[in-house]
Amino acid sequence: MTQKIIVSGGAGYIGSHTAVALQNAGFEVVVFDNLSNSKSDSLDGVMRITGVRPLFEQIDCTDTNAMRDAFARHRDAVGVIHFAALKAVGESVEKPLMYYRNNLGGLINILDAMAEFNVNNIVFSSSATVYGVPEKLPATEETPLQPATSPYGSTKVMGENIIRDTVQAKPNMRAVLLRYFNPIGAHPSGEIGELPNGIPNNLMPYITQTAAGIREHLNVFGDDYDTPDGFCVRDYIDVNDLAAAHVAALRHMLGGAQGVNVFNLGTGRGTSVMELIRAFESATGVKVPYKIAPRRAGDVPAIWADATKAERVLGWRATTALTDTLASAWRWQQKVSEKN
Ligand code: NAD
Ligand code: UFG
Repeated sequence: MTQKIIVSGGAGYIGSHTAVALQNAGFEVVVFDNLSNSKSDSLDGVMRITGVRPLFEQIDCTDTNAMRDAFARHRDAVGVIHFAALKAVGESVEKPLMYYRNNLGGLINILDAMAEFNVNNIVFSSSATVYGVPEKLPATEETPLQPATSPYGSTKVMGENIIRDTVQAKPNMRAVLLRYFNPIGAHPSGEIGELPNGIPNNLMPYITQTAAGIREHLNVFGDDYDTPDGFCVRDYIDVNDLAAAHVAALRHMLGGAQGVNVFNLGTGRGTSVMELIRAFESATGVKVPYKIAPRRAGDVPAIWADATKAERVLGWRATTALTDTLASAWRWQQKVSEKN
């Protein structure tokens, strides 16, 4: 029998790619999304790729009654992947309560509804931000967490703790906490991808918008870090690889894994800002005008993942070549530019 999965935030960037992976793996998907940072067009994209449009409930996870009603309609679901959250680090500093209310209020409602309707498996979108500035690299799942540097980061640390406490109190419940490093790229079909609102905060969409001529130049934040080339280092992971990890995590739980399991999702490889720019230029043949700018407040100089636990336990690892990821990001950008 087909197993139904509730995907909160499933109209968004990572959620829509995961909906594709889930449907291709034979799951039925129902998306819960309030479209605060996405459009339902992404679900049409999922349909063009897979032949099936996910079921869709336009609801706000912070609306307790609407959530209960939606769970009642989908009480046959076997699990939840909870992506729905606000994610702009800078905005979270200015509007902390909005972030706590949305990211934690939504999570608490989901956990309540799961208990009420006996849906016992949850995958949670956490982030490498929980490691702060790690003492040792690469970061493993055992690397001590650091105090969060933004309200957004706090919602991830607190979200993990809320889930741990809930699973502790409810022996039927199981959870997987996935700590994403830096997701980039788009579906190779060009049907779905990232749709940043306004001026992008993140490097990849800033690069593609600059390459497309929408931005005059890219500001490279800092060239004097204590790293091999002086630029910040991150672990850029293809969004399709990330999506596949969610399927593996679900299968792990549905296969009987107990308690709370944590996994880093990265490539295990650090890439500097300048290396990413150069790799983009050589993957696409398009120049990215840039200027060196001062360091951005709060940036971690270098972080990349030890993702061997996910490989050992889930049988998952990132396989997409960076060149292919960058080409997919560019294909998506060109498609978005054509439409506007
Ligand atoms: P996104 O903004 O594209 O997707 C999030 C989706 O959740 C959007 O469709 C939005 O409309 C929806 N949403 C937000 N609040 C909601 C609410 N209260 N009720 C219903 N829907 C709501 O973001 P994304 O990049 O796909 O991120 C998905 C998850 O992964 C988030 O939890 C994010 O914090 C986490 N994450 C993202 C990154 C990254 O760099 N993209 C890194 C680490 C962790
Ligand atoms: N950068 C630039 N110019 C830009 C944008 C970014 O030089 O215009 C640099 C940053 O200084 C950083 C690197 O590119 O060195 C990556 O920056 P991003 O903003 O793309 O990503 P971050 O690593 O800062 O943050 C991301 C997510 C957060 C998440 C964090 C850890 O945006 O939500 O990864 O997972 F918390």
